Amino acid sequence: MINYVYILASLSLFHTALGAVAGAPVLPESTELYNRGAVIEEVVSISNVSHYRIELPKSDRTTITASKAPDGTRVWSSDGSMANDRYKLAKGFLDTPSVSKQGGLNNAGFVQLSGCINLDKAPQLIPSDKGGFYRSSSASVDPNMNFQGSRCEGYKQFVECVQPSNKQFILRCCNDEEDCPAPSGSQKCSDVLKGSYGACAEART
Ligand SMILES: *[C@@H]1O[C@H](CO)[C@@H](O)[C@H](O)[C@H]1NC(C)=O
Repeated sequence: MINYVYILASLSLFHTALGAVAGAPVLPESTELYNRGAVIEEVVSISNVSHYRIELPKSDRTTITASKAPDGTRVWSSDGSMANDRYKLAKGFLDTPSVSKQGGLNNAGFVQLSGCINLDKAPQLIPSDKGGFYRSSSASVDPNMNFQGSRCEGYKQFVECVQPSNKQFILRCCNDEEDCPAPSGSQKCSDVLKGSYGACAEART
């Protein structure tokens, strides 16, 4: 009996050790995302429909809520077109992506990228997840803030809404906080952040 328990314990230790070696490759982080000893800086950006960086869960099949845990997200770049980025989206991540620059409520200016998520190209997400939103750390009142250092290139702040269950996606970078409201409760991204959502515009929550 004692021998039997001992053998079981040894086997499970052996497997744990194997798992640690095989399952957790140590990969270098992009210096843009990670400064040794400092907070991780997450910089999203929108240039055009084929050139953008967005925030998504770092690991496969993660809910947006779970990804808000420390170190749970990464900035992913579009279609692998940005050579130095460590995290690259699958080609065609967004169906009918649209980029729009507008003046906003007080004419401070904002830019947004919106569209339908192609779930077949989104291993980071869980299709049934109702999703949620990320915000830059500069947003003034923000209990759901991601971690320090997240910002949008060229703008004061951003809000990103990711709702896998209805496929809506939008990243809006703005200079005036009034232009970057976040959905609450059962609101869809499109209820609060008007934009071109293609085929998922009329989606249910
Ligand atoms: C998209 O933006 C990138 C970066 O600014 C630029 O190099 C590229 O030419 C742009 N593509 C189009 C189609 O405008």
